[in-house]
Amino acid sequence: GNYTGAYRPRVHFSPPTEFMNDPNGMFVNADGLYHLYYQYDPTATVAGNQHWGHATSKDLYTWENQKIALWTPNNYTFVFSGSAVVDVNNTSGFFPNQTNGVVAIYTLAQYPNNAPGPQTQNIATSHDGGYTFDAYASNPVIDSTSTQFRDPKVLWYEPGQHWVMVLAFAADFSIGIYTSPNLKDWTPQSNVTNVGLLGLQYECPNLVEIPWEDGPQETAWLLAISINPGAPLGGSITQYFAGDFNGTHFEPFDRAARIADFAKDNYAGQWFSGIPGTESQVSIAWASNWQYTQQVPTGPTEGWRSQMSLPRVNYLKNATRIGYVLVSEPYNISAVYTEELAYNSSLGNSSILLDYSSVESGALYFEANITSLSPTTAVGALNFTFSSSISGEYITGGTVVNGDTWLDRGHTNAFDNPFFTNKFSATGLYSGSDNGTWTISGVIDRSIFEVFVNGGEQSGTMTFYATQPLDTMRIGAAGIAANATVSVGVWALADTWA
Ligand code: FRU
Repeated sequence: GNYTGAYRPRVHFSPPTEFMNDPNGMFVNADGLYHLYYQYDPTATVAGNQHWGHATSKDLYTWENQKIALWTPNNYTFVFSGSAVVDVNNTSGFFPNQTNGVVAIYTLAQYPNNAPGPQTQNIATSHDGGYTFDAYASNPVIDSTSTQFRDPKVLWYEPGQHWVMVLAFAADFSIGIYTSPNLKDWTPQSNVTNVGLLGLQYECPNLVEIPWEDGPQETAWLLAISINPGAPLGGSITQYFAGDFNGTHFEPFDRAARIADFAKDNYAGQWFSGIPGTESQVSIAWASNWQYTQQVPTGPTEGWRSQMSLPRVNYLKNATRIGYVLVSEPYNISAVYTEELAYNSSLGNSSILLDYSSVESGALYFEANITSLSPTTAVGALNFTFSSSISGEYITGGTVVNGDTWLDRGHTNAFDNPFFTNKFSATGLYSGSDNGTWTISGVIDRSIFEVFVNGGEQSGTMTFYATQPLDTMRIGAAGIAANATVSVGVWALADTWA
C-alpha cells in the first residue's frame, strides 16, 4: 500500500488500498501479537466484493499489512463480518499438536443473480497462527435461508467451559445467543430482542465481561449492538447494554439505550478475543458511517476508503442519574509519543497557540485538565481549534464543566454531503466522584479526530476532510474560578506508516 496521501492517518489503521469496513476476527496471541482482520473489498473503493483483509501489530498503533486471510468461495458469495478465537485447548479437535490454532467464525452472504440470498455461519481453521485459513469441510455450522442473519462473535465462557456466539437476526431486531462445546456444533439458547434503538437493522453484536469501577459488582457483561441505518444522527452507530450473563441468557440491568459515541464515525466495534481476565478490554471500531463512507474524497484522490478508530480501553463507571456509563479511552497512547510540544501546569484563563507544521506525522495527542474544582465553583470551559495556516479551514470543539461537549467539522471544505453533518454534542454531569476534576483529551490524525471527556466518559469520533493540512493548534480555558487549576499538554505522535 501507498500510505503517503495527505488524508492517510498516521497512528490509525487504514487499508493498503480500496475499501474497508468493519473490524473482524480480532484476537491477541500468546506472544502479545494483535491480529486485526477487516471487511475488505480489494477491487473497489466501495463495498461489494467482501473478503477478510488482515494486519498485525505489537502496540495497536504500528500495523503491518498481511495477505488477505479469507477469500470469497465463488463470485456470488461474500465473506461478511465475524470473529476469531484461539482454540488453546483444542476443543475443536482441529489442532491436536498445537496450542495456537485459530478458528475464524464468519457469515457467508450469497447474492445469486445479484439478489440477496441466504446468510449462513461458517468456520475456517488456521494452523499457522492466523495467516492462512482453510474452510471447514462441513460448513455451514449454522445453516439458514434468511437473508438477514449475520456477524457471529464468539467468546469462551470460562465458568461453563463452553463457547458462546452472539449474532444478529438483523431485520428482526434480535440477537441470538448460541453455545458450543467445540466450535462446530451450535445450540440456540436465547434471544435478546427489541432492546433500545431499533434503527432498521441490528448488526455486529458483541458480548464481553468488563470491569466496573467502584460498581456494585466487580464486573458486568456488556452487550453492544450496532444499528444501521436509522441511528439518531443518521446512518450507523453502536448502542450498549450492561447486564448479567449466565452462559446462556443475557439480562440487561435496564432497557435503556446508551450510545457509545456522540459523533457519527464509530460503528461495528469489536473486542479483542484472548485478553486474559477482565483487567482491561480493548476494542477497535470502524471509524466511518454507511451514510457517506462510499463517497468520502479519499477514494478518488488517494485510492482507499475508511480507517479504524484508535484502540480503546473500556470499562464501566458509575454515572450520575443514569446509573452507569461505558468509558472508552485510547489504549496506551504514550507508546507513540515522539515529543512533548507544549506543557503548562497553570494555564489559568488563557490559551496556548502552537504551530505544528514541523511534526512529520501531523498527528497529535493533547490533554487539558481542570483540577481543584469545588462543587460551588465547578464552572468554566476548555476549547480547542486545529486550523490550516494556508486555507484557514479548521475543526473545533470543547467542553463546558458540568455541561456539554461539542465538536464541529463544518469549516473544512473537501467534502460536501448532506449526511456529513457538521456538529455534534453530548452532555455530562459533574459528580462528587470526579474528585474536583474535569478533563478533555484528544487525538488529531490527518483526517480523523477523537475526543474524550473525563477520561472517556464521553467520546466522539469524527472524520473530516480539509483541502489543506491542518497545522496550527489553539487550546485554552475560560471562566475557570480562581481556586481551580488548568494544566495542558500536547505531544507529537509517531508516523507509524513511514
Ligand atoms: C456492518 C455490515 C455487517 C456485514 C458487513 C458486510 O457494517 O453490514 O452486518 O457483515 O457490514 O460488509
